[in-house]
Amino acid sequence: MSRVQKLTHTRLEWLWLLPFAAALYYPWALQWSNQAHVAEAGAPVTLALMLSAYAVPVLAFYCVFVTGIQPVMTARVVLARRLACLAVAAPPAYTLMGVLLYLMKINGHDLWVWSGLWLALIAYFSMVSSTLPSIDFSRHARTYVKLRVAHGIASVAILLVFLAPHLFNHLFGVLGSDAHRAVMEVLRGVYRNGWLEPIIIVTFFFQILSGLVLIRPRTQQRADLLDALQTASGAYLALFIASHINSVFTLARYFGTDTDYAWAVAEPVGLLADAWSIRLVPHYSLAVFLLIAHLACGLRGVLRNHGVSETRCATLTWTVIGIGALATLVITAGMLGVRV
Ligand code: HEM
Repeated sequence: MSRVQKLTHTRLEWLWLLPFAAALYYPWALQWSNQAHVAEAGAPVTLALMLSAYAVPVLAFYCVFVTGIQPVMTARVVLARRLACLAVAAPPAYTLMGVLLYLMKINGHDLWVWSGLWLALIAYFSMVSSTLPSIDFSRHARTYVKLRVAHGIASVAILLVFLAPHLFNHLFGVLGSDAHRAVMEVLRGVYRNGWLEPIIIVTFFFQILSGLVLIRPRTQQRADLLDALQTASGAYLALFIASHINSVFTLARYFGTDTDYAWAVAEPVGLLADAWSIRLVPHYSLAVFLLIAHLACGLRGVLRNHGVSETRCATLTWTVIGIGALATLVITAGMLGVRV
């Protein structure tokens, strides 16, 4: 047994503190990064503080992973794992909360509302953690299989029709706003089509709902690294999609803002220099990476079901994840103003 598998019972009991503390730190990391950037404290300082914001979902993911490899799943382990999944999704959750507060005209209190929400979550956590989740998921195994297949088919459809072109479009950001716009205008002709757009949105909502149903048993089962990645990325995407659709349709388009690249990257101020928009850096970059990682893990499941060897499955999955990391770097660089 490895060292992480042998975490003592007492340590596991308190593991939930890790994602909780990390989530509380998240807005501070963003605030300090923004202040360092504006005060021209130097690129290494801003970078270090930004990386500490990224460390929040990374630490939370570590917790999802560690809880997944324990030999015994107690109620506290399961709940720590669910809390960790939520902390992985801190970037889109913080963005969603910020947009909702802005729409409610509550400005400048994001940090305190965020802390209050997490404290409320912990209060709930401590109240329910003494009881094991009571649903026996194995009794509904066939329903879960059908739902997983539907979730997979919908993923492929939405990937081909919208997501692959959408992310391809964002790769053009490094060539400048004009190049991005030229590709977007061609793509808008397709996805803004009067009958296709509602289908895309409904499919995304189906993905969120089916994903939330599928994630519940997953947080109670033992899991390896890639299983943990699939669960954690699923939690991130559920919040990201809800947050992103709300931003595009409610915050922007409803009020007549053109949802172009300049809007997405907070031009002309820039994402790092704007105290509110700096949260979009981890929010968007992790969305690209975790979307591709989530699809890669889904592909691994399909390959396994078709008898492909574990080694081949793992090689293919990690290759796709590697491509995702590259795409994420290019898109993020473009969003931060790097031009080639
Ligand atoms: C770097 C990452 C991303 C950026 C900067 C971004 C930005 C944008 C922008 C600017 C729009 C409006 C497009 C337009 O007006 O034509 C949009 C629409 C949308 N995005 Fe993203 N996006 C990103 C990633 C994603 C991901 C990962 C998803 C899904 C998992 C997603 C789902 C959507 C959806 C559903 C729409 C609405 C499409 C419609 O008009 O019907 N985006 N995004």
